[in-house]
Amino acid sequence: MDGCSIAIVGATGAVGSVFLHLLEERNFPARSIRLCASERSWGKKMKVSDRDLIVEPATPQLFQETDIVFVSAGSDTSRDITPIAVDQGAVVIDNSSAFRAKPDVPLVVPEINGEDLTQHAGVIAVPNCSTAPLVMVLNPLNHMTSIQRVIASTYQSVSGTGAAAMEELRSQVQVGSADSLPTPTVYPHQIAFNVIPHVESFQENGYTSEEMKMVNETRKILHLPDLQVSATCVRVPVMVGHSEAVNIEFNEPVDLQKVREVLSAAPGIKVVDDPLRNSYPMPLDAEGIDDVLVGRIRQDTSNPNGVVLWIASDNLRKGAALNAIQIAEQLLSRNLLGKLTGRV
Ligand code: A2P
Repeated sequence: MDGCSIAIVGATGAVGSVFLHLLEERNFPARSIRLCASERSWGKKMKVSDRDLIVEPATPQLFQETDIVFVSAGSDTSRDITPIAVDQGAVVIDNSSAFRAKPDVPLVVPEINGEDLTQHAGVIAVPNCSTAPLVMVLNPLNHMTSIQRVIASTYQSVSGTGAAAMEELRSQVQVGSADSLPTPTVYPHQIAFNVIPHVESFQENGYTSEEMKMVNETRKILHLPDLQVSATCVRVPVMVGHSEAVNIEFNEPVDLQKVREVLSAAPGIKVVDDPLRNSYPMPLDAEGIDDVLVGRIRQDTSNPNGVVLWIASDNLRKGAALNAIQIAEQLLSRNLLGKLTGRV
């Protein structure tokens, strides 16, 4: 096939704009690119590589002419649009949580479980933006020595909520004084100069849905249904880049030097761990790069089988758009596109 035809639903959003940038950066073999967004953006012109493209509605006709549809427009939109696109013979790579838990939907981080793509039935899910970097670190370590338990606390940037949240933080920082701040509309509290231990909605068990995504998605991607995982997800006033403090409990003591070697050799990971020179992963350094940064690697003082480390990664890249494009690249290289319709 001489390149493929793609559509991006959510092209005007926080993930969508990184997506367009990555298509060019990775020289993705797109024969044609269609951009879709909500009604308010229809007709808007956007520059992609050297082409001027017009934002259009996501219609069955458009999907019929498309091989791969990237959807990054929230779960409700995904739920509405994805079945229509699949009916029209397109393969959907969905960035939302709408289909991640479904047994017939592969949830894929290509460096880990690209093999699961062979099972797709038209929809492939991209993991949550905190789960993706976590499993990138856990997977090579689990191959070294079995992991039994993981405790993760996240420090998630506002871009994970989308363009409106970035604007809310920007405007609150500009106003500066708590007295004159406008009432927040995206978050339940002021996010500037604050942290909010509340990402997505609270469940009956006291965890949030974001926290339970980290539990369930980690198990699914690693094919470890019994792995013990607990997460606390926190929103912080950072524009781009999610960080995580992670305690990993192995089934026996592990050598820290070996942990560093294994992580250094793993694809998509960069070890940044020279604390005496003030060198450790930070979101400002993770922004705009593909690698997941990991550092502060140390023994857990409370557990002889435990290791503690710190991760920072670009949530719009490995946590979303990059992982989605890597999935598309694997679909192409494994010849898994159009297998449902014989369109290849
Ligand atoms: P729009 O910009 O027209 O509202 P973010 O995550 O940054 O909030 O972006 C969400 C993206 O999803 C935007 O591109 C938004 O378009 C798009 N979007 C929202 N609702 C729909 C919909 N019903 N159909 C297609 N795109 C949608």
